[in-house]
Amino acid sequence: MDKRTSSHDRVIAQRQAEGWMFLIEAARDLRTTGAVVPSGKALARALTEPVRAQSPYPLAVLEAGAGTGPVTRALIPQLSRGSRLDVVEANPRFALRLKKIVAAHPSLMGPSGRVTVHQSLIEEFDTPHLYDVIVSGLPLTNFAPEHVERIMNCYMRLLHPGGTLTYFAYLGTRRARSMTASRAESRRHAAVDEAMAAFQRTYAVKRCTVWANLPPAHVWHLQRPLARADALSTPRPEEARR
Ligand SMILES: C[S@@+](CC[C@H](N)C(=O)[O-])C[C@H]1O[C@@H](n2cnc3c(N)ncnc32)[C@H](O)[C@@H]1O
Repeated sequence: MDKRTSSHDRVIAQRQAEGWMFLIEAARDLRTTGAVVPSGKALARALTEPVRAQSPYPLAVLEAGAGTGPVTRALIPQLSRGSRLDVVEANPRFALRLKKIVAAHPSLMGPSGRVTVHQSLIEEFDTPHLYDVIVSGLPLTNFAPEHVERIMNCYMRLLHPGGTLTYFAYLGTRRARSMTASRAESRRHAAVDEAMAAFQRTYAVKRCTVWANLPPAHVWHLQRPLARADALSTPRPEEARR
């Protein structure tokens, strides 16, 4: 009983330390950190659904923008034997923390999947692998539209045909921003939404809403088409609407 209480206390203390770390990184650079608190369990569960759905097959999984690791922690126990997980995180302090989480994770002591943390921008991540599932935690709505298109094209290229990309978008950010931001900033956000909408119209297979997160978020599932390699060009808004 005492042992259980002390390990529970350790987990709470660890989560609090990660909450503070996330807040400090957000204060340093809110644009790339993208939030002031890490994702909650419900959001992590929704983002990792395609991995559960394909269990017990061995999968190649890529997580981009892992932060303090709430989604990584949800992914690791779901990896079946023979799976691999590559975690790509740009912030060197988060990457170091993620390496420690992976090194200490009890599920990795046995013959389970292989997990590697890479400190890199996802758009510069050089890998010979293709992935069955990509989970993105990147704050895409904070970036320039061309940057978002570059990252989305990079994800689609890194997926096996038939593979799934999941990512989230907080609810109401555009309206909140339109009340506080400059015109140029509102225009940038609208252009990003339009770029994302074009990818969604072309590749989306599912969207769900996670209310039990702060803030609530939509989770999108996009799928790389099974055939036609030429289907991978950047969808143009006017083409995608036809
Ligand atoms: C909104 S946080 C999400 C963190 C975590 N997945 C979660 O859900 O709590 C975004 C993360 O993406 C990382 N990031 C931002 N731009 C990136 C890029 N181009 N490549 C890789 N990671 C990036 C940030 O450092 C941050 O850790």
